[in-house]
Amino acid sequence: MPDLTTKFIGLSLRNPLIAASSGLTNSLEDIVEFEKSGVGAVVLKSLFEEEIRIEMKKDLSKMTQESFIYPETIDFYDNFYDVEDMLTKYLTLIGEAKKTVSIPIIASINCVTAEKWPYYASTLQDAGADALELNVFSLPSDFSHTPEKDERLYFDIVEAIKDKVNIPVIFKIGFYSSNLASLIHRLSKTEVAAITLFNRFYSPDIDIENFQVLSSYVLSSPDELPLSLRWIAIMAGRVECDLAASTGVHNGQALIKQILAGANAVQVASAFYIHGKEYAGQMIMALEEWMDKHGFNTIDECRGKMSYSHIDNPAAYERTQFMKHFAGKE
Ligand SMILES: Cc1cc2nc3c(=O)[nH]c(=O)nc-3n(C[C@H](O)[C@H](O)[C@H](O)COP(=O)(O)O)c2cc1C
Repeated sequence: MPDLTTKFIGLSLRNPLIAASSGLTNSLEDIVEFEKSGVGAVVLKSLFEEEIRIEMKKDLSKMTQESFIYPETIDFYDNFYDVEDMLTKYLTLIGEAKKTVSIPIIASINCVTAEKWPYYASTLQDAGADALELNVFSLPSDFSHTPEKDERLYFDIVEAIKDKVNIPVIFKIGFYSSNLASLIHRLSKTEVAAITLFNRFYSPDIDIENFQVLSSYVLSSPDELPLSLRWIAIMAGRVECDLAASTGVHNGQALIKQILAGANAVQVASAFYIHGKEYAGQMIMALEEWMDKHGFNTIDECRGKMSYSHIDNPAAYERTQFMKHFAGKE
């Protein structure tokens, strides 16, 4: 049978499929189930920067609503001590997971600034996390900012985190950037061990009867695969760090496509919500059977075979308008 073992951020994974950060990776039971289902690693549900800031502010009673970047954070908890408790639980979860399972455990933080919270990251490392994924989200919606100002956040975070931890750090980013290829390329030259393409944002919708903005489509659909597939293919082999694919991977075929595009690892969340954690086993089996059918012995042999750098017509990944595609559809 083909060998699925994969090197990702210096860690040895039994295969490239990773359970992405979500509500499904928030307990020891979940992690044990994911290990049984066959995934190569688990990214824990994220802590939010604001939760960490609360923990760091010892005199909790002094915290006011204004201290929060997003006031709704305050509504999320009954009181600040719940937050403190939650951080302790997170560290305990990492420790217990490390004692119980043998797959790597990747801690995760959602961050919007480079301030204060990086000090806390070392406690995740001390608790035993094998790596840290930083979900860095910044919607460039403020038109008074220059692209440079919006991008500065990413590099400020690298600067702030690099002395705090020595475990590998993964940056999970969104696709909004004035020059995405340049941003990914420049980030890859920093201490970042991998970049995850892409985080999937909360998507707004409008309730036309009640005139309210709602959250829509919490789960992705298979139609969303091409966005991450395109950018993995364009950047693979041209960056100085690993790449993980995320968004729209709903079956074994999509997993194979991301590896062919050049992903070092592939993260999945929505498909596990829809089909259950055990679905990972089917995805891995599909990969194994496909490798066997096409005579690939190792993941390295097929990774990047269809990336921008390895195909005869790389422009296929850059083409955004094409007449032939629509010909005959009118
Ligand atoms: C219910 C839910 C909760 C999520 N929570 C987190 C989170 O805490 N941190 C994070 O980085 N991503 C989170 N994600 C995003 C996923 O990790 C993933 O990047 C995204 O869903 C796209 O992958 P998919 O198409 O496989 O779902 C969440 C996704 C879902 C569906």
